[in-house]
Amino acid sequence: MKHKDFAQVIDEFSTTTDDLKQIAACVRYDIEKGLANEATSLRMLNSYIGLPDGSEKGDYLSIDFGGTNLRVGLVRLNGNGNFTIEKKLAKPLKVPGKYDYTSSTATAKALFSFIASLIKELIGSSTKKYYLGHTFSFPSTQTNIYNAKLIKWTKEFATRDVEGKIINDLLKDALHEQQLDNVEPIAIINDTVAVLLAAAYTSSNTYIGSIYATGHNTCYFESNNKYIKKPTIINLEIGNFDKLSLNDYDKALDAASVAPYEQRLEKMVAGRYIGELFAYCLQDLFGLATLPVFSSIDLSVILEDESPNRTATKQLIKDHLQVDLSDDEALAINRLADAITARSARLAAASYCGILWHIFPHGQPEHRIFIDGSLFQNVPNVTTNMQQALNEILAEDAAKITLESSKGGSILGAAVAAAMNQ
Ligand code: BGC
Repeated sequence: MKHKDFAQVIDEFSTTTDDLKQIAACVRYDIEKGLANEATSLRMLNSYIGLPDGSEKGDYLSIDFGGTNLRVGLVRLNGNGNFTIEKKLAKPLKVPGKYDYTSSTATAKALFSFIASLIKELIGSSTKKYYLGHTFSFPSTQTNIYNAKLIKWTKEFATRDVEGKIINDLLKDALHEQQLDNVEPIAIINDTVAVLLAAAYTSSNTYIGSIYATGHNTCYFESNNKYIKKPTIINLEIGNFDKLSLNDYDKALDAASVAPYEQRLEKMVAGRYIGELFAYCLQDLFGLATLPVFSSIDLSVILEDESPNRTATKQLIKDHLQVDLSDDEALAINRLADAITARSARLAAASYCGILWHIFPHGQPEHRIFIDGSLFQNVPNVTTNMQQALNEILAEDAAKITLESSKGGSILGAAVAAAMNQ
């Protein structure tokens, strides 16, 4: 990699209106190709589920598996779009120095036994019959709402013996081993599908659900297409979209990742990667021999630092790199963090426009896009950058689009999926 200065590095992350329009058009084109079963980087996975009407009722167990934390919950659906989360528990999937269920040293058996033990902790010794909805946030091919086979791990997960397996069968075996035969998994969905189901349970006129967190992906409701037999939610696996121009830092990150050439969009957008992109930039800027470690949380700290002397930014860089920044350098670091997160938000927004163009080819009606995830909720300026990108791409139609934070997210969505399938 060539050694660059701050202005050059920041410029590498800029995206013009034309770039965004081009990406939106390519996303739309690829969706239509994908529906016709032609090869594209979008996986276009059928979820075998439509939209709920809000009348679904009952108590359901939910699993939310796919980010840094494993979550389980007991959800009461009251009908009329109302729900309560009766109980919930969460545990990290890895604790440095203690355990790590996400790396290649962990087995499927250990991972699913960990999941089953959290369910056990949630329901205690109850022998009541429970139906369970499972949010499994990785690309999986389904043949029905129960049966999902993991195609490939993403987000740098590498647990052994899970790829190619039917996920709910692994879960069922683990539940059985812990005498939890009263818990029956009956539905499995992607987390984007969970967002859309949760949104559709509580609101109407919503067809797009997205995750903007550790990973990035979007699904939409396909209701009217000659290639689809029955209206269904399609998990685009848009994180794998690849019609993008990569800069030197994107290329370096990709080459060092668990799965090079895959998940190109996700590697430019998602929380798992943007801290690392920042690290590659700093390595180049400061001529560092080794790659430092930064996370998306570090980027938030920098972006939130509006102090006149950028005290928090200077401290963070000192802690990570043992470098004392000048005021100008601290300001440039802030601009760099802003450029990386702005590009992330703008690319995600461009992909939303491509989906909207596909769903509404005859003009944009009012529409709500539901988004879940730590990055969407916590990184300063994300909504403003997404909104700005929508304005650039859609002009006056942008005013018809609302970006909304998901309520209930994966835990509610999984319960709704179970209710729809019971
Ligand atoms: C996975 C998707 C998931 C997304 C958000 C991606 O890495 O491939 O299935 O929806 O992360 O969790």
